[in-house]
Amino acid sequence: MSEGAWDETVRRFLLEHRFGMDEVVTKLSILRDEFAHLHDYNPIESVSSRLKSPESLLEKMERRGIDLDGPDPLARVRQEITDVAGVRVTCSFVSDVYHVVDLLMAQPDVTTLELRDYIADPKPNGYRSLHALVEVPVFLSGGSVPVVVEVQFRTIAMDFWASLEHKIYYKYRRDVPADLLAGLKEAADTAYALDATMERLHQEVRGLDPLDDS
Ligand code: GTP
Ligand code: MG
Repeated sequence: MSEGAWDETVRRFLLEHRFGMDEVVTKLSILRDEFAHLHDYNPIESVSSRLKSPESLLEKMERRGIDLDGPDPLARVRQEITDVAGVRVTCSFVSDVYHVVDLLMAQPDVTTLELRDYIADPKPNGYRSLHALVEVPVFLSGGSVPVVVEVQFRTIAMDFWASLEHKIYYKYRRDVPADLLAGLKEAADTAYALDATMERLHQEVRGLDPLDDS
């Protein structure tokens, strides 16, 4: 594919992803407002989103060995690069994370393609979050287009940790010294212990028995 043709293809591809991303953000904002108004309780602290830039998309394609001159590069991008549209949801408590992800996935126009629970099963470095890969229909002049959006759900404590870890990772150009890695892992566990304590207090305040799972 010529560079000119690719630029045009990518412009449309990224535009569709922006629409899909905005749709997911709207869904979450509606849930947030509804909770605030009707239930006097807000399980969502913040929602942010980012779209991959054309440069960063090209860079990831190179890493994945997707060649512009190969057969149907766009089809391979659609299949292999699923974080073009990214939404991040921060909640106060772990129970809120699971509650909000359930509410989103239960919506009839949201198809869950993949759910990765790095809260129950953290990465070896200590990273915790819940990743949902969802597909939503975007209605354009030519009809409906399915768009894939990566949604990351985490608590404030998990987000605090992930931001610092991300900075350190890039500062050391992905080659983080062992003592820092160990310190980060310890901090991740401390953050999770804080999440557990906050959850317990939260349930107590809400007048629930913390041992009652219902
Ligand atoms: P990419 O890493 O994006 O190629 O996708 P993947 O297939 O490895 O998915 P994964 O679920 O591992 O990670 C997707 C996204 O989650 C990343 O782009 C980050 O935003 C976030 N993430 C995953 N692992 C970590 C981590 O160890 N630290 C931090 N700070 N963020 C992470
Ligand atoms: Mg990764």
